[in-house]
Amino acid sequence: MTHVFTIAIDGPAGAGKGTLARRLADHYRLNLLDTGLTYRAVAYALIQHALPLDNVSAAETAARQVNLANLDRAVLSAHAVGEAASKVAVYPTVRRILVEKQRDFAKTPPGAVLDGRDIGTVVCPEADIKLYVTASAEVRARRRLAEIESIGGTADFTEILADIVRRDERDMGRADSPLKPAADAHLLDTSEMAIEAAFLAAMAIIDDVLAKRDKA
Ligand code: DC
Repeated sequence: MTHVFTIAIDGPAGAGKGTLARRLADHYRLNLLDTGLTYRAVAYALIQHALPLDNVSAAETAARQVNLANLDRAVLSAHAVGEAASKVAVYPTVRRILVEKQRDFAKTPPGAVLDGRDIGTVVCPEADIKLYVTASAEVRARRRLAEIESIGGTADFTEILADIVRRDERDMGRADSPLKPAADAHLLDTSEMAIEAAFLAAMAIIDDVLAKRDKA
């Protein structure tokens, strides 16, 4: 059997895991899946059809229709879609459908970097490397504000911070697959770290695991 290599990255919204996942996938030549986009695609389908986010059977249908090869980041990245995604993500049946697709993706050679909330705990508990990327809510709010301002927008820091805290509570507090570090995850706090430093730290962790494995 071919061994596929899996890097699981979890953490709260805005901690920098998306950028880190992309850098690692490029460096180690692995496939890349931002699993947040799959929940966003379900939320987006409901919004498009003017359906309430608690219509579970419509959410299940939308989840079955999610095509991992066809996730439009430009459309799905809207802030409101992220909020809605966090709401549909509480439904176990919706999660089960998406998790199955995510696992199939992870199994495709040569392997993948997957980022989300439950990758190390539920989707790929056997991942070769698990990273839990975090940063304080204040730092994440400051980064989001800078991002908005860099494209000419304006926003209120206090509102952004309240949004982030609310989203953390929902993602960490749900009954099914809450956001939490896997017992064997390496913690990476990016509060005081630029993305390049986070990438180097992650690489050091991964190369160390690879070197020990080669020796074994
Ligand atoms: O990472 P993101 O902001 O794109 O994720 C949007 C929402 O989707 C997030 O608030 C919770 C949900 N999500 C999840 O429950 N499990 C994942 N593996 C990824 C995202």
